[in-house]
Amino acid sequence: MRQRRKEGQQLTSLTVMNPFTGSCPRETLERVLASLGCSPTSAEVAAYLDKHDTLQHLRGEFLVPKIAELPPSDLSLVDGTKECIYMVGNSLGLQPKRTKKYLEEELEKWAKTGVHGHIEGSRPWAWAENNLEELMANVVGAKPEEVAIMNGLTVNLHLLMLSFYKPTAARHKILLEDKAFPSDHYAVDSQIRLRGFDPEQSMLLLAPRPGEDTLRTEDILEVIEKEGDSIAVVMLSGVQYYTGQLFNMAVITEAGQRKGCYVGFDCAHAAGNAELKLHDWGVDFACWCSYKYLNSGAGGLGAAFVHEKHKHTIKPAVGAAARSEWFQAVQPAHPAGLSTAGQFRGV
Ligand SMILES: Cc1ncc(COP(=O)(O)O)c(C=O)c1O
Repeated sequence: MRQRRKEGQQLTSLTVMNPFTGSCPRETLERVLASLGCSPTSAEVAAYLDKHDTLQHLRGEFLVPKIAELPPSDLSLVDGTKECIYMVGNSLGLQPKRTKKYLEEELEKWAKTGVHGHIEGSRPWAWAENNLEELMANVVGAKPEEVAIMNGLTVNLHLLMLSFYKPTAARHKILLEDKAFPSDHYAVDSQIRLRGFDPEQSMLLLAPRPGEDTLRTEDILEVIEKEGDSIAVVMLSGVQYYTGQLFNMAVITEAGQRKGCYVGFDCAHAAGNAELKLHDWGVDFACWCSYKYLNSGAGGLGAAFVHEKHKHTIKPAVGAAARSEWFQAVQPAHPAGLSTAGQFRGV
């Protein structure tokens, strides 16, 4: 009882000093645990964190499946009418409640106006990305002109590698995780072959130390320091898809570039999940998808980032910038509408 009261008092003083400001999640959690005197898995800690979650109202913006609707549920063990605890936003984010309304509006516009939907309505499709790039840039800490919303992640990775991976006899390696997402591994493998090199020689794989699950930053930096002169591109995750490890992107970028490498990140599990500052960190390029923590739905468009410092030196194989310019070129002289559907042939 005395212990309980003590915890209650600590709870109040914690609330007053606000343990959530000015520290990383791990430090916050450690502070809360120390003050409550509880184990990290105790219900009390979870209740405390929930109570002080300033973003909790956003949960109401999403459709959370009911347990009974989910295929593997054993209804003799759980209450099927309750919402499930959804821990797979790393695979497919939940559906925002507003998605249906927006989609229905666009389907209706398509049905009623056909090709004119490209330039009509509150969200003309032809320059739809113009409204999104700034929002997306905020998510990854970029300037809007550094971001293109297009394709899927793997296609974007290929396009970025076509621009950034220019191997020479001396500098031909790509540094990536030993357990990179399989499609990243294959993309790197095929880019190396495309340039006439051998993945056995040119793919440099980073593995955790024996008995460890995550990569130590110091080990990554050591490999860059030792092998950097032969590395053309460092291509790592922002957040590792399997272990959830958040890489120190700023430090890795600095180390790679100091050795003359380009540094890029697959931010599939980082975008919308971790705070990113791709521009400030000087990252050369990045790609990500929008169907995980950005909740766009299966098949949602991917995105790519190229730092503005490459504006005059790297020619992206294809980019939304080029696409937008093309669209601007074909915008009708009379904004009232299209004179013929033929103007949009090739969209
Ligand atoms: C880390 C990572 N990279 C790449 C991909 C592949 O993305 P996509 O199939 O959209 O090209 C995924 C998909 O889950 C992923 O998690």
